[in-house]
Amino acid sequence: MSDARLADLAQRLPDLRLLTDAADREHYGRDWTRRWTPAPLAIALPSSIDEVQAIVRWANKHRVAIVPSGGRTGLSGGAVAADGELVLSLERMNRVLDFNPIDRTLVVQPGIVLQHVHDAAKSHGLIYPLDFAARGSCSIGGNIATNAGGIRVIRYGNTREWIAGLKVVAGNGELLELNRGLIKNSSGYDFRQLMIGSEGTLGIVVEATLRLTDPPPPSQVMLLALPDMDALMKVFGLFRARLSLQAFEFFTDLALKHVLLHGAQRALDGDHPYYVVTEFDAPDGSAQDAALAAFEQALEQGWVTDGVIAQSEAQAAALWRLREGITESLAPRQPYKNDVSVRISAVPAFLHEMQALLTHEYPRIEVIWFGHIGDGNLHINVLRPDDLDEASFIAQCEHVTKLLAATLKNHGGSISAEHGIGLVKRAYLESTRGAAEIALMRGVRQVFDPLGLMNPGKLFQ
Ligand code: MLT
Ligand code: ZN
Repeated sequence: MSDARLADLAQRLPDLRLLTDAADREHYGRDWTRRWTPAPLAIALPSSIDEVQAIVRWANKHRVAIVPSGGRTGLSGGAVAADGELVLSLERMNRVLDFNPIDRTLVVQPGIVLQHVHDAAKSHGLIYPLDFAARGSCSIGGNIATNAGGIRVIRYGNTREWIAGLKVVAGNGELLELNRGLIKNSSGYDFRQLMIGSEGTLGIVVEATLRLTDPPPPSQVMLLALPDMDALMKVFGLFRARLSLQAFEFFTDLALKHVLLHGAQRALDGDHPYYVVTEFDAPDGSAQDAALAAFEQALEQGWVTDGVIAQSEAQAAALWRLREGITESLAPRQPYKNDVSVRISAVPAFLHEMQALLTHEYPRIEVIWFGHIGDGNLHINVLRPDDLDEASFIAQCEHVTKLLAATLKNHGGSISAEHGIGLVKRAYLESTRGAAEIALMRGVRQVFDPLGLMNPGKLFQ
């Protein structure tokens, strides 16, 4: 091993899997943002908590920064290693360690893929309700690091609601056992919640105790076509009042265009500017009747122009694909992404201001909107035209994001609803968090990671 630091690591942990090939460094050094050139020192793939602790202690000795790494499906550059860091990949720590039927908890290692958590919960007749389009490749550690949301937040909340306990290796190598699966624990600061959403800047999650719950009743999926933006929240209000919603997602005609080009099947004839996919509890026929009545009412009001209810699981999956396939259909274009939120009550006013801003600032650029509108969370994906070079494109998007951040501030919103701040949004953190708050965040980071080795540069400099 030519690098003396790596030679020392290999000597301390002779069984540690360590990768240094150029192809591995490229693969593990980036996430789905694809904006930065990966340049990690090496990749360590520990298989135990002891190894993670030893790696962190080694990093302290040699002052090597560590980038924790899961499925690297992140969209904010949180798992990017572009500056000689050690990537600490948790992909070998991917097992279910325990299931407790009384507590209804599942203890897992951080590298487990979300789909495998779903499968494990199902095998015990329960569910882990968090769900995202990236379920087949994102890891639970990454979900925890970003307090990921997804398509069922309207029913189940974000990741933080489902974490009963965490084991974390802090920046100095100490192992912390946080909350230990307790439901009630009124004993001071809840560091478990502090870790959730901290983007790997306070320590490395090495074990998680997940809460499970009963599966929902049978459900139905409906696709609605809407004539204009104002109808979105009206339809939401109407459907929420009449049905027990599990999801309420929207996308535009432009998003539909991309997802159809990517192989999804058209479900409604004609062109409509906005669409909603909603899923609701349907334990018996009365829910379908209620859905149809809501649809009729919306039709009379002119809030919807067309709609369809899936009549089979295959049809339901096809409707969901129209929404869930959007990110994948846009990925080859490497979109510039905004992921913003406002309170549900502020959505209509915010949408109007945002639309005016985007139309004015991106006159000849394709801008795709979609997202978890029932949670007040909107994804804006901006596509680079072929005749615009990447640097100019990013500069233009950064300019618009600055304006968007100011609009969000006026509406009391957030520059990062569910993807995290990472590298992509750190310049805009102040639009969402006050100066005093950010100063405290820096102080907290200093306490957990005195040498600043845990995912440096992410969240803030
Ligand atoms: C999604 O909800 O599909 C992703 O979080 C959004 C994105 O790719 O921007
Ligand atoms: Zn999303």
